[in-house]
Amino acid sequence: MNESVTVDLNKAAQDLREDVIKWRRHLHENPELSFEEEKTAQFVYDTLESFGNLELSRPTKTSVMARLIGPNPGKTLALRADMDALPIHEENTFEFASQVPGVMHACGHDGHTAMLLGAAKILSGLKDQIKGEVRFFFQHAEELFPGGAEEMVQAGVMDGVDLVIGTHLWSPLELGKIGVVYGPMMAAPDTFWLTVNGKGGHAALPHQTVDSIAVAAQVVTNLQHIVSRNTDPLDNLVLSVTQFVGGTTHNVIPGSVDICGTVRSFDANLRKTIPEKMERVIKGITEAHEATYDFKYEFGYRPVINDEEVTAVIEETVREVFGEEALDLMKPNMGGEDFSAYMEKAPGCFFYVGAGNEEKGITYPHHHARFTVDEDALEIGVKTFLHAVFKFLGK
Ligand code: NI
Repeated sequence: MNESVTVDLNKAAQDLREDVIKWRRHLHENPELSFEEEKTAQFVYDTLESFGNLELSRPTKTSVMARLIGPNPGKTLALRADMDALPIHEENTFEFASQVPGVMHACGHDGHTAMLLGAAKILSGLKDQIKGEVRFFFQHAEELFPGGAEEMVQAGVMDGVDLVIGTHLWSPLELGKIGVVYGPMMAAPDTFWLTVNGKGGHAALPHQTVDSIAVAAQVVTNLQHIVSRNTDPLDNLVLSVTQFVGGTTHNVIPGSVDICGTVRSFDANLRKTIPEKMERVIKGITEAHEATYDFKYEFGYRPVINDEEVTAVIEETVREVFGEEALDLMKPNMGGEDFSAYMEKAPGCFFYVGAGNEEKGITYPHHHARFTVDEDALEIGVKTFLHAVFKFLGK
């Protein structure tokens, strides 16, 4: 890597540090739910417009795309940030805590947006040095299926894109580390809903009822066999029942129980077989006990599978810019991300920027009412984007 570029980019990110933090805090104070990011998208659009040199568009109602087209031909690299918040009531008490009751940036997407604005500002000033094109995706609705990424892809944002990268601030990963995963990184998150219908009645006369609670409990227990007994132990699969609702009081057997949950997998062939395996168990148990059922299964996002070559460039960038000790070659996890929608169209890499800090008490998990990120991570994210751009596109 050209030494003078390294110094300039790092200094540029340092100089912009306060602005990036300011943007993040503004977004944190004004969170909006998935598909409702109207003020957020307008803020991003206006901020990008103030940088100059960018071609702006609104691929969907609440998303923004910026194109930075250099004077010389080359590849097109897309950088993505998500912008949506969650339906959580914030319990943090810092001065820039959410001003919207019941809505909170509890996953760090405020930071993602601020980091990408930072990268866009610096790169827009370096337009003459860009070979090819840098495309910035400010995506809505990562948290809510069917997700904003798929909508943006449908709107054509990936047309002509050669490579795509994105990052997630990650509080379980300590500040200063960058997490890189080769191959499968995040799972396909599928969802199911089940109602077990029995026959309600007096709790003292169970023989006159079909006890939906007792039957549903057996269904839950037997569903666990799919992972433990019916699946190759070397395949990755999670089946979690996360809701079980039935009954109103101590002396009434309820007529039905509502259950829902999630299934997480990486392998497409295994994934396809799960609804049928589940239904076989549900049908067998309910029939055996004279109950009936309604079962609905929804396939969610595709798994995030990082491209070998793109990931190698990210790994090299991390080593060169932050040193060997910053690199954390992580295992995959069973979380989900709609970043996978972009990867259907071009090879890509999704990576983590460590944002946790025990000394500062920044230890709460993502989607927690007291979640936050160490803002020092924002500068690290901006630097990673900047260096990655020149590594992928060349100088
Ligand atoms: Ni997230």
